Amino acid sequence: MKEFDYTVIGAGPGGYVSAIRAAQLGLKVAIIEKRKTLGGTCLNVGCIPSKALLDSSEEYHKAKHKLADHGILAKDVKLDLKTLLARKDKVVKEVCDGVDYLMNKNKIQRFLGHGKLISNTEIEITSESGTEVIKSKHIILATGSVPISISGFEVDGKQIVTSDHAINLPEVPKHLVIIGAGVIGLELGSVWSRLGAKVTVVELQAKLFGSADKQMSAYAQRLLEGQGINFLFEHKVTSLDKKKDKVVVKVNDPTGKPLDVEGDVVLVAVGRKPYTESLGLKEVGVELTERGRIKVDTHTFKTAVPNIYAIGDVIDGPMLAHKAEDEGIALAEMIAGQSGHVNYNAIPWIVYTWPEVAWVGYGEEELQAQGIEYKVGKSMFKSNARSKAMNETEGQVKVLADKKTDKLLGLYIIGPRASDMIIEAGVAFEFGASAEDLARTVHPHPTLSEVVREAAMAVDKWSIHS
Ligand code: NAI
Repeated sequence: MKEFDYTVIGAGPGGYVSAIRAAQLGLKVAIIEKRKTLGGTCLNVGCIPSKALLDSSEEYHKAKHKLADHGILAKDVKLDLKTLLARKDKVVKEVCDGVDYLMNKNKIQRFLGHGKLISNTEIEITSESGTEVIKSKHIILATGSVPISISGFEVDGKQIVTSDHAINLPEVPKHLVIIGAGVIGLELGSVWSRLGAKVTVVELQAKLFGSADKQMSAYAQRLLEGQGINFLFEHKVTSLDKKKDKVVVKVNDPTGKPLDVEGDVVLVAVGRKPYTESLGLKEVGVELTERGRIKVDTHTFKTAVPNIYAIGDVIDGPMLAHKAEDEGIALAEMIAGQSGHVNYNAIPWIVYTWPEVAWVGYGEEELQAQGIEYKVGKSMFKSNARSKAMNETEGQVKVLADKKTDKLLGLYIIGPRASDMIIEAGVAFEFGASAEDLARTVHPHPTLSEVVREAAMAVDKWSIHS
């Protein structure tokens, strides 16, 4: 029987990163993955393909609507959806192949098949070619998550789809109805809207982004509505009537009045649930939380069973690739005898709409609920020179800092490339910085990042340009 020090089940960003870190630290590592390609949901059907589609659709939108402002006249701009989707597949293949390369480089043994626990040190791997049992001192469950379904909305992959299918629609829908105004709904809604679909989003809650800052959520909503995305907030889907070439989604408005929303494709994007099926958890004694996630000690990632650990979407916390990666690194370091730690207060959130929405820390309402007194500084992208040069002036930065100590409590960016700028806030949070620390850090001119600095200056009312 093959024996390892560290075996990871699931090769998503949590699992494969953890495997590499463990190998770097001298452990003998194996990784088990049932999908033929490595990288999990994120690389195969999630973060990466959706970003490729967002970038392509943004180029198309720019060519059609924005280049003329730069004096570039692109006539007869046409969409070649087949090529657009093929480019996305190429991007996905390259990043997945990259993970393969990293497994070989770090001498991690890869097993293709479904892993199931048979004891706290043994895993049975089932594949097309049969069954094999391997032994490992430590077993890491990093099996991720799958889309949540709504009863009565049976996914057929054509008219009723999840994100897995919505990254591959063979034609631009005439009317895409999205259930759930979460990250997936907004990102894939943006893609198909830019490519020409009418998009209606039905959402149970009253606002975007859950408990995130209300004013910034409303700001993002206005921008998306301005792009033609139609939101039905506080609407509850009740049932579905599937016809040959259309689907009627029955919803109730906030007063309970019924309403029919008719579209040709319905995307169900109401969240994801941990993937724990057929893992043998119960049989070996791994416990689940009430919400079906694997129960772990939040510092050590230990499950109820010695030698078995879990990280990523399958345990509590936000279902974000970078959260899983950091848990994977911390766990490998702890098992290798070092100290490992994840700072959950400094995890950035990003929604890759355009402009992008990104934040770290608390929003105003969350601070109020905790009775924390705070100061606010804001700055707009329209007063930034680089934004003007780019012709991308929509957006705002909002900084929230402790009223007495000036320590940063929240930082929100809605603006061009917010995704690449938010990490300034991440680093500041990691180092326990104050708003003044950000304001007194030299920011290069002319860059978009100056808006972050201006908002930090505005906390104590000395913003220079706004
Ligand atoms: P989500 O949790 O972000 O949003 C789901 C939305 O659906 C919520 O607003 C919820 O109120 C609404 N909802 C739930 N049931 C509903 C119903 N019956 N009718 C109408 N609305 C309903 O989940 P989403 O967008 O499916 O994404 C899944 C996971 O993937 C999330 O945890 C997210 O963090 C992650 N993800 C992250 C991305 C990023 O970081 N950029 C991109 C895509 C996904």
